[in-house]
Amino acid sequence: MATVTRKIGLSLGADICWPICYENILEHLKLAVPWQGDTVGIEVERVTIEPFDLRQPCKYDVVLDRLTHWYHTSREWIKKSIVMDGLYVLNNPWAVQSMEKHTSYAAMMHLGMPIPETWMVPPKAYDVTPDHAPTLKKYAKLFDLGTVGNRIGYPLFMKPYDGGGWRAVSRIGDEATLRKKYEESGKTVMHLQAAVNPFDSFVRCIGLGPQTHLVKYDPDAPLHDRYTQATNFVSEDEATLLRDTCLTINAFFGWDFNSCESLRKDGTWYPIDFANPCPDSQVTSLHRHFPWMVKANLKWSIFCAVTKKPFRKNLDWEPFYKIAAERDRPYREKLSAYAAVAAERFETARFEAFCATHLAHLDEVAWEFFGTQTAKSAFRDKVTALYPKHEVEQFTELFWNRVQAWRADERGAKVGA
Ligand SMILES: Nc1ncnc2c1ncn2[C@@H]1O[C@H](COP(=O)(O)OP(=O)(O)OP(=O)(O)O)[C@@H](O)[C@H]1O
Ligand SMILES: [Mg+2]
Repeated sequence: MATVTRKIGLSLGADICWPICYENILEHLKLAVPWQGDTVGIEVERVTIEPFDLRQPCKYDVVLDRLTHWYHTSREWIKKSIVMDGLYVLNNPWAVQSMEKHTSYAAMMHLGMPIPETWMVPPKAYDVTPDHAPTLKKYAKLFDLGTVGNRIGYPLFMKPYDGGGWRAVSRIGDEATLRKKYEESGKTVMHLQAAVNPFDSFVRCIGLGPQTHLVKYDPDAPLHDRYTQATNFVSEDEATLLRDTCLTINAFFGWDFNSCESLRKDGTWYPIDFANPCPDSQVTSLHRHFPWMVKANLKWSIFCAVTKKPFRKNLDWEPFYKIAAERDRPYREKLSAYAAVAAERFETARFEAFCATHLAHLDEVAWEFFGTQTAKSAFRDKVTALYPKHEVEQFTELFWNRVQAWRADERGAKVGA
């Protein structure tokens, strides 16, 4: 029986608060997991950026990646480490790179999800290259934007086909505004999407491996209040629908960590944005939901590292397409079947058994940690990076108090149980 260490790497960008919490809780866990004859410990380290030999080995078993959607040296290092060294990474870098919002809409429409009607329109402007003029002259059909707008109906949303971060998203109420916004859209390739209007509820489902967390969302609130503190805002059946939707999307695209936005109108939940493979992880947006995210991240990455979960190098969409092709099967049954494929890929049952056996103390350790000055100072660091100086104390207190309210509710739930 050997004592072995698995290494988890954090590939970070502007993240400040969650890595500090992740590292501290991991240390307090003092893991020594009996696993297949060995005793397994876990070390965590921040991944640095440096030249690398493609043939050099990778010292990590798992990497939590927050950087590679915009920092490509790290992205290519991660890719080489997957194909050469057996690295497990959250998320699949090829899927992050190539599966835009557009593909995610199209694929999930095919699986039967009620995505609002969505059109793509050629861009208003182009970078001038020698081939552009002859190509467009020969093949680009003149089109009437007003006709497309009328087909979809108003209000509609114009947003980049590869969107993220609310960039260039506009809500458009009439044809004149549509024409104006299109004129202004420049080289960006846009979608026009029917608005879910009016909606009576907006939920974000965060998925991390097989774990999910539902948050009621208020898009009109200031940033620190968009993830609301509401509880019990959907029925059990709706919760299952939203969780199965998120897990299906995540398993389909190889995104272990992703969030899915859905809006409810007349009792139907419409997914409208679910290509978010680097979800918001900051205490300044998540506040009372922040501990869930840190704990879920720990549980999933420790499970993957200890068990040496193999990284799926191919996305393998066939099982989903097979279910989609069952013509007479109602959508809810199909969704359950998709979610069963996701449960297989995320090894849900094995993961839950692993957590119950080896990480039974994690919730308590994290609960204690989120009451410490170390946690508070991590929150303050993040607030300092985002807010003007005179608001730092006020907002540090706000987020701290929300996390303490979560702690009190957790304790209450345990005492009441
Ligand atoms: N079809 C729609 N119906 C109603 N509201 C919509 C629709 N599409 C987008 N919105 C609103 O616009 C916001 C931004 O759109 P979307 O989420 O698609 O863009 P994004 O750039 O990916 O945003 P983020 O990065 O914040 O997730 C949504 O959170 C929602 O409030
Ligand atoms: Mg969004």
